[in-house]
Amino acid sequence: MGRKVIVDSDTASDDTIAILLASRLFDLLGVTIVAGNVKYQDQVRNALFTLEYIGKKDVPVYLGQDRPILNKWRTVEEVHGKHGMGEWDIPEPTKRPEKENAIDAIIRLARENQGELEILAISPLTNLALAYLREHSITKWIRKVWIMGGAFTRGNTTPIAEFNFWVDPEAAKVVLDAGFDVTIVPWETTEEYGTLDLAKWERIRSMNTALSRFFERVNKTLLEFSLKQGNRGSVHPDSLTTYLAFDGSAILEQRKFKVDVELCSLSRGAMLVDWYSKGGENANVVLKADSEKFYEKLTSILSSS
Ligand code: RIB
Ligand code: CA
Repeated sequence: MGRKVIVDSDTASDDTIAILLASRLFDLLGVTIVAGNVKYQDQVRNALFTLEYIGKKDVPVYLGQDRPILNKWRTVEEVHGKHGMGEWDIPEPTKRPEKENAIDAIIRLARENQGELEILAISPLTNLALAYLREHSITKWIRKVWIMGGAFTRGNTTPIAEFNFWVDPEAAKVVLDAGFDVTIVPWETTEEYGTLDLAKWERIRSMNTALSRFFERVNKTLLEFSLKQGNRGSVHPDSLTTYLAFDGSAILEQRKFKVDVELCSLSRGAMLVDWYSKGGENANVVLKADSEKFYEKLTSILSSS
């Protein structure tokens, strides 16, 4: 069996591709849902439908926090589509979520898989923060937390804040201060190395498999939005983070920094990297990645039926 992971997700567009990759590259123990991209119930349906569609109906979905710890936030249907799956009005999934709450599931699975479980945190960090506040030992039980989040200087939600950190900065701060073994893949790194341009889209379109068609449909709005933003294609932060968690050789440069999160004023949600930190480093930060390796793995999975 592969490495054991939980995907913590605000399931919309690229999150669904990250779930697909995680299901093929890891032993996916569960998907936990947290408030973020689109309406919470849409995110739940998107996760249930995705697992059914990719042939992983047996992977449990656990319901987590449907709002951040402190402040209200706004969903971003303009990025992911009205319900988060592009313009696809997906059929009602037959799969249902588990009765066990996501926070309890994270703690239980961490306890049952001590030293093995890894968290692919591709969403606001509310669930993981609350799990830690409930059971501090999970910092020892959980082997690694891979975080897609934060921006060095180019926020995608405010001028300085990336969406996952902006939605719940208190949660991000709790997680970063908790003592987990953390690797962060920030927004600019994903823009640079996780963008699929139109030529790559054409290659995916020409595959014409069930999974390539799924990719196109769920990421349609994401592509349109990314192009409007001036990107050369669709940006796939969650999928890239999931791939880098799987293949460390694709991380071309990373450095350990002391990383903090701003909680107030106009820079709320900003990731603060102490570039000169001497001591107190709490996170590896990925600076460069091998985009070709990412794309090759993604397309090899999309081309499989
Ligand atoms: O800033 C990008 C991140 O915010 C991605 O994880 C996207 O799914 C949203 O959660
Ligand atoms: Ca996400």
